[in-house]
Amino acid sequence: MKAAVYETHGDPNEVVEVKEVGQPSELKPDEMLVKVASAAVNPLDWKIIVGAIKVPSKHKIPGLDYSGTVVSVGSDVKDYKEGDSVFGCSRGTFAEYVVVSSKACAKKPEGLSHHEAAALPLAGLTAMQGLLTHGQRRGVTGGKIAIFGGSGGVGSLAIQIAKRVLNAEHVYATGSATEQILGHGADTVINYKTTNVGDALKGKNLDVVFDCVGGADAWQAARQGLKPGGIFVTIVGDSQESFGNVVSTMIKGYWRRLLGKTGLGQKYVFFLVDPLMEGNMAQLAEWVAEKAVHPVVEEKVYSLTTASVRALFEASMSHRSKGKRVLDVDDHRKC
Ligand SMILES: NC(=O)c1ccc[n+]([C@@H]2O[C@H](COP(=O)([O-])OP(=O)(O)OC[C@H]3O[C@@H](n4cnc5c(N)ncnc54)[C@H](OP(=O)(O)O)[C@@H]3O)[C@@H](O)[C@H]2O)c1
Repeated sequence: MKAAVYETHGDPNEVVEVKEVGQPSELKPDEMLVKVASAAVNPLDWKIIVGAIKVPSKHKIPGLDYSGTVVSVGSDVKDYKEGDSVFGCSRGTFAEYVVVSSKACAKKPEGLSHHEAAALPLAGLTAMQGLLTHGQRRGVTGGKIAIFGGSGGVGSLAIQIAKRVLNAEHVYATGSATEQILGHGADTVINYKTTNVGDALKGKNLDVVFDCVGGADAWQAARQGLKPGGIFVTIVGDSQESFGNVVSTMIKGYWRRLLGKTGLGQKYVFFLVDPLMEGNMAQLAEWVAEKAVHPVVEEKVYSLTTASVRALFEASMSHRSKGKRVLDVDDHRKC
């Protein structure tokens, strides 16, 4: 099969190539083989390729999101069968075929193309877990929420979830693409290029700040707007290119959480998305079916060639994506 492959860490523009590799064939009982129609890029893909984030990997094929068609199922899979259209998270999705866990996927909602569905899994699960698992648990329903990075892959979905699922009273979002961010449902856009975010949020009595941008400034800006006991949830931490030293990120988080327990301090949470969290993909599909959430996809189309995959990484690394960038592995865009 054809796949994008990197043999060594480095600039994706130099180390990623599309070539023939062996098609996966062995399935564990709860796994399925999927013919990939579309896959989306996430910053995590290139952070792994450049070596900024170290993950133990037998794969040298990038890609975490897919939408495609089930080709065969493992002996324990009861909910899916050959021919089903599914979408979800797996490792190595920039390929014609990928082995996926039947627990980390859902049936593709009717009316959504593979191209659109591929844009949802990792970003959607991150937005969902950031706001519901780490935010709502602490009582944010109906509250005031700020989202840092409102036009990006995660932020664009987080605004929709905050507004249409959590019924947030007011959603502030940072970003420079004002019209687009308002279109996702934000009530107020703060253009970080022209406005100091901390000043703009001062006294806003926020329940939650969901940070999809990172950097030490984010925590400082959030503290200006969070109410006493409010919660700062970050998916990036202080270092934007990696999670920095994960141990130091965790220690910082611990101290910030401890401070949050004293006086009027606010709470600090850094988390990594769990693509296997039970029921989350099905919930995402349900929100799409209910039209509460819709994927936001960049217009430019990418295909499974070396030049196009490299261009896809270059575009993602610019930090200027509006929504998600999708790679069409197969010509399924009209499905
Ligand atoms: N912890 C986890 O499990 C987890 C999971 C998923 C993603 N992440 C991380 O979360 C981050 C966001 O991911 P993503 O997929 O949403 O990225 P993305 O789609 O590449 O985000 C790009 C967006 O970032 C915005 N942006 C850049 N600098 C900004 C700033 N200073 N303030 C506000 N917005 C800014 C840009 O907005 P404008 O063009 O409007 O200026 C652009 O639209 C990445 O670092 C990713 O690695 C972590």
